[in-house]
Order: sequence, then structure tokens, then C-alpha cells
Amino acid sequence: MLPHRLIEQRLQPAVLAALPDADIATVLVRPCPDPKFGDYQTNALMSLAKARKLNPRQLATDVVARLDVGDCCEKVEIAGAGFLNFRLKPAALAQTLESAVRGEHLFFTPTPQPRTVVVDFSSPNVAKPMHVGHIRSTILGDSLARTLRLLGHRVITDNHLGDWGTQFGMLLVGWKTLLDAASLQADPLAEMERLYKTISAQCHPDKPGFNQTTLDRARNELVKLQAGDAENLAIWRDMIRLSQAQFQTIYGRLGVNFGHTLGESFYHPRLQAIVDELMRRSLATESRGARAILSDGSVPPKDDPFLVHKEGEWIPNPFIIQKSDGGFNYATSDLATLAYRLETWQADEIIYVTDGRQQLHFRQLFAAFKRWQPDSTSRLAHVWFGSILGEDGKPFKTRSGETIRLAELLDEAEERAFKLVSEKSPDLPEAARREIARVVGISAVKYADLLPNRQSDYVFSWDKLLALNGNTAPYLQYAYARIRSIFRKGNVEQGAPVPPSESRITHHESSSLLLEAPEELALARHLLNFGLVLEAVADDYRPNFLCNYLYDLAGRFTGFYENCPVLKSEPAQRASRLVVCDLTARVLKQGLDVLGIETLEQM
Ligand code: ARG
Repeated sequence: MLPHRLIEQRLQPAVLAALPDADIATVLVRPCPDPKFGDYQTNALMSLAKARKLNPRQLATDVVARLDVGDCCEKVEIAGAGFLNFRLKPAALAQTLESAVRGEHLFFTPTPQPRTVVVDFSSPNVAKPMHVGHIRSTILGDSLARTLRLLGHRVITDNHLGDWGTQFGMLLVGWKTLLDAASLQADPLAEMERLYKTISAQCHPDKPGFNQTTLDRARNELVKLQAGDAENLAIWRDMIRLSQAQFQTIYGRLGVNFGHTLGESFYHPRLQAIVDELMRRSLATESRGARAILSDGSVPPKDDPFLVHKEGEWIPNPFIIQKSDGGFNYATSDLATLAYRLETWQADEIIYVTDGRQQLHFRQLFAAFKRWQPDSTSRLAHVWFGSILGEDGKPFKTRSGETIRLAELLDEAEERAFKLVSEKSPDLPEAARREIARVVGISAVKYADLLPNRQSDYVFSWDKLLALNGNTAPYLQYAYARIRSIFRKGNVEQGAPVPPSESRITHHESSSLLLEAPEELALARHLLNFGLVLEAVADDYRPNFLCNYLYDLAGRFTGFYENCPVLKSEPAQRASRLVVCDLTARVLKQGLDVLGIETLEQM
């Protein structure tokens, strides 16, 4: 068992002995924020004491008196307002590393309570090229899905394509009147985008290019499509097919897969019944010809997503589910989607990964759903993110001011990485340099996206994200490849750097690892936190925790490698240090893998 779990397990009866009425499932133990004070910490006693108006330090003393962790920890310390700090004994540390070598764990254990989690991510709109904004959803969503899966949850990924809606009226007019077959073949999404832009420019009554005939025609084509007109349906299917093929190329390059791709159109047949039910149960009301969900006054205005504050007063902010022309919208479709996912997959949790501009939509959606299905206990989370900015601090655009296409961005990443690799290793054959450049280029873009706190905007800088020094993908990949090169140099097979044979026999009773140097201990301690970090990523939906953890890990490895000779040490120490190298490499690889980042054996 991993030490922090063991401490948690021992803490529970100790707390109960001191406070028989405490209602605790686990007393959470987390890494100590400052290693000066210990390896692990719990702050749980403070809230328990506070709730009972007890002196927290006194409670801490009572618990420590009943706690027995002497086999794995040094003397437990009570700190501050009632924290408990634990420091592992080096032998316990060594034993944990050894059980990892035996393949019992890699510093994390599958969750004892697996949940069914639906991750809704990427979700681009048909007939529009994916742009850099979609990259964040795709990359963040993928890494969350991977993390949850690694921790043993049942993960269902769903690419909720925007494949239905008013844009198809305009697209159909464009397709029927302006389509250029050669352009469509060369770059379908670019051609469809051109059609859309041209027609939509004529459909805005307050724009100079407005044309009433085009607008009427677009409306008419949309009505026909929705009524099942065969020709329009066939064109619409073509648009989806062509878009998907292009999206697929990008997903292939990014190494992203989806279990399901149920677009908005899939839910269309369910929408009317939902609106009818909400009306019948008076959960939705007629509002200026439309149907909408309005505030029911059950929460204070500042927490009510159906109210907005304008000019000093709270006014209705309706969640429209059926427009006055009878059409449905994003809201209706998301209500249907939510219900479908809960019914079909028995989801315990649904995660929506989109940009921050959709916050209001999701607050309203979740609140509306709660009223529709009050008994549902599933956790709904909008995992939102900020924008990507150019180096001038403005939204990331091309020189001519157009949005940057994801495909072009990835091309450029590979091209730039190829230049760097060619400078560094001119002797490698071109094919090898290309392959390294592909992995490094794509990874660098992904990592740059995962590293910042997702809710803040970040500045996209090629030099920064491709730097070999700094918190970047190439730096971590390089750290991994460097460890692998130790094994090549020493002619040791990785995964089998076993301690000398005589100590192998006593493997289970005593420790054969020699962890002595401070840098070696620091590295080993850091390895033990891998699982806790993975759990934090899954709980808060923040892969940046893992990025920072891996960066620290690589840093500690450097500290270790600079101070602790590996291949040149005498045999017992050499074997022990090779184990530390191997475990570090494995954690790096596994950690990068859940970020969706490939590793290379040689760079
Ligand atoms: N297609 C939408 C967009 O590009 C994102 C959809 C997100 N998922 C959802 N269930 N609403 O903005």
C-alpha cells in the first residue's frame, strides 16, 4: 500500500478514538506543501475541531497519542493551527520504490470507487475549419479522459459535433449557387467556409451586403432540410462527411480518439417532447412568443443564472428552449443530450470542455436540468478555458488578421522542430529527424496548452514552447531520452535493473535499495506523489498540476544525476541508482502519456 494511504488508514481509527462522533470516511493526507516540514500532511483535524468548538492543537495531540505509524514514519509533528506533518522513514521510502519495481504499482492505485464519466470535448462545428480555439478543448479534454481512465474510471468520450442549426440554411444556398467543385475537392472545409461567409454576409439586415432574397432563400432551404427534403439531406450529409474526414486527419495527428461522435443532429427528434414536457410541468413558460426557462427565485439573485444585473436591477435572463418561429436551439439540444447521456450510459459525471464564453450557457443548462430532473445526483462540470493570445497580447491571428487554422499551426510546429533537430543532430538520417520533429512539434503545442492554468489566457510563443530549457514538452522528452541513454550506455535493459542477486532473495523482508544522498531521497520522495497529483488533476480537471509535477520531477532527476554517479558507482549502489533512474523514466513516460504526449527513446 502506498504510504499516504497507509497513513490515512491508520488515522481513521485514531481520530475515531479521540472523537467517537466524528463522521469521517477518510482523513485526507496530502503532500506537504513545503518539504521542510515533512512529506505528507493532513489538515482534516482543524475542521473537525472547529465544528465541535474544540482546541485544534489539543485534538491533534489526542489523535497523535492514539496513532501508530512508527513503522513507516518518523515522529509525527503537530504544526501551526493543528496540522499533522509526517515524514517517511527512508526504509519505507525504499520499500515503496521496490514494490513499484516489482510491478505492484507505479505510485498510483486505481480508485476504489470507479465512476462513469462522460467527457464532451473538441466538438467543432461542421463546415468550418478547426481553429486554434478548438485545440484547447481537444487537448484538455483528451488529457482529462486519459487521466480518469488511468485512475480506473469508466470514461466515455463524445465529440459533440455542431452539425445542426441555422448555418445550414446559408450553407445550402451557397452549395447550390456558388460551389466550386475543384476547391471542394482540394480543401473541403475552406470551400464550405467560403460559401458560408459569402452567403452569411448577405443575410444580416444591418450589414451593407444585405440581400432579402438570399435571406428568404436560406430560411426556405433550412425549413426544407428540417422537414426531411431528400436533396437537402443528401447535401447536408456530404457536408458532414467531408468535414469529419478533415477533422479526423487532425485527430490522427494529435493522437486523439473518441468513443462516440453524436452530433447535435442526433438529438433533433427528441427536442419537441422535451419542450412539451417542460411546458406541461410549468418549468418553462411562454416569453415574448418564445418558450423559456425563467428564474424561480429559489436562489439569491447573484447566484441565479436566469437573472442578470443591468443598470442597478436584476432583470430576467431567460434560457430560451424554443424560438418564436418554433425552431429549437443550442439549449434545447443540450438538454436532450444531457438526458440521453444519463439514461444511456448511467453517467455519474459529465464534463464539458469549452471556452469560457459559454459559462452562462452551462450555468443555465445545469440549473434548468436540476429543475427538470431534480432527483439526478450526477455531477455536471463545465471545464472552461481562456483564449490563446499572440505575442502582441491580442487574440492569436495570422498576419493578415485571419484566425489561425489548427492544421497549419501543427505544420508549422513540425517544421520549426525539424529545424531545431537538424541543428542539434545533423548526422541523423532525415527520416529520423522528421519523426523526432513530428513528435516534438506536436507535443510542444499540446504542452503549451496544458501548462497554464486553463482559465487564464496564454500567449502563444514558438520560442518558448520549443525551448529545450524550461517547462516545455521538449525538455521533458529530453529528460526521458537522457535516462534511457544511461541504460544504453550501461548496457542494462530498462525495467530489469535489478539489485545484486543476493539481495534479491531478501527483497520482501529488507530493503535492497540504498537511498542516501539528499538528492536521491528528494527524487524518490517526489516519485511517491505521482498518484496524488493524478487524483488532483481528475478532481479539479487541471492537467497543469501534472505538467508542473513532471517538470519538478525532471529537475530533481537532474539534481540527482549531477550529484550521484550511476554507472560508475560500485555494484550495489549502481543497481540501486539504476532502479531510481528506471522508475523516474517510467513515471515521466506515464505522466506524459496521460497528457497525450509521446516519448522518444533517443532525441
Ligand atoms: N460546438 C460547440 C462550439 O464549437 C461546442 C459544443 C460543446 N458541447 C456541448 N454539449 N454544448 O462552440
